[in-house]
Amino acid sequence: MTLALDKLWEQELSKAQAIETQTAARTAAPIVAFYSAKGGSGTTTLAVNTAAAMARKFARQVVLIDFGLPFGHAALFADLVATGSIASASKAAVADFEKVLLGNVVHHRAGMAVLPGTLRPEEVDLMTADLTGRVLDVVVTGQKVVLADLGTSLAEAALAVLERAECVVVVVPPEIAAMTDARRALAIFRDILNVPDNRIELVLNQRSPRQPLDRAAVESILGRKMSVVVGFDDTRPEESTLAGGLVLQRDTSSMVARGAIELARVVLSNLKLDG
Ligand SMILES: Nc1ncnc2c1ncn2[C@@H]1O[C@H](COP(=O)(O)OP(=O)(O)OP(=O)(O)O)[C@@H](O)[C@H]1O
Ligand SMILES: [Mg+2]
Repeated sequence: MTLALDKLWEQELSKAQAIETQTAARTAAPIVAFYSAKGGSGTTTLAVNTAAAMARKFARQVVLIDFGLPFGHAALFADLVATGSIASASKAAVADFEKVLLGNVVHHRAGMAVLPGTLRPEEVDLMTADLTGRVLDVVVTGQKVVLADLGTSLAEAALAVLERAECVVVVVPPEIAAMTDARRALAIFRDILNVPDNRIELVLNQRSPRQPLDRAAVESILGRKMSVVVGFDDTRPEESTLAGGLVLQRDTSSMVARGAIELARVVLSNLKLDG
C-alpha cells in the first residue's frame, strides 16, 4: 500500500514536470508504430525500452500509447501504476475528454510516459478509429515523439495509427511461422496501407536461446535488411520488471538495453530528429 502510494506520488511529480516542459514546447510529435505479426515477439519490451532510450534525449516529451489489446503490458513493464485509459477517458463528457485523457497518462521517472489503451478486456470495443484519431490529436501536442504499441493488431484502432505513423517498427523473431506472418504483414503495409519502404524499420529479436534462422536467412526470406538485431537476453527483461525497473536502466549492457538504444537512434534518424 505504502509502495503504491510512493509510486503514485513519484508519478505525479514527474507529471507536473512533464506538463511544464510540454506547455513550453508547442510541438506536434511524429508517431512511431510498433507492430509484430506474431504474439510474444518482444514488441512491448522493445517499445517501452526504446521510449526510455528516446527520453534520454527528449526528457518528458516521449509518450508510449498502449494499443496492445485486450491486455496491454506497457505500464506493467515500466513499473507504472495505471489509473485510467483511453477507453475510460472515452466515457467522459466531450468537454472533459482532453483533460481526462491527459490525466490518464502515467509518467515514468526515466522521462517517458505511458497511456494505457484499456485496463479491462471488455473495453476493447470502445477502441474505434474515431476515438483513436481524437486521442492522437490530443497526445501529439507538446511531445517530441509518440510511440504506439499495436501488438499484433490490425483492427480499426491500429489501422488509424498506421495511417498517421511516420515510421513503423516491425518486430520479427527468427522463427519459421513468424516469417510467413511477417511477409504477409509487410505486403499489407506496402500494398494496402501504402506505407513507403523507407518508413519501415525491421527488428530481428532473438528472444529465445537457440535460433533456427540467422540474420542472413531472415533477410533472404523477407527480402529486406534488418535495421537492428537484438540478441538473446536470457531472463534479464523479466528480472528487471520484477525488480521494479526497465532493463535499460538496470542493466545497460544487456541485449535489450543495447538493442533499444540502437533502435531509438535508427528511428530518430528516420524521423530526422537526430540533429
Ligand atoms: N531479446 C530478448 N531476450 C530474451 N527475452 C526476451 C527478449 N525480447 C523479449 N523477451 C521476453 O519475451 C517475452 C515476451 O515479450 P513481450 O511481452 O514484450 O512480447 P510482445 O510481442 O509484446 O507480446 P504480446 O503478443 O503479448 O503483446 C517477455 O517475457 C520478454 O521479457
Ligand atoms: Mg505486447
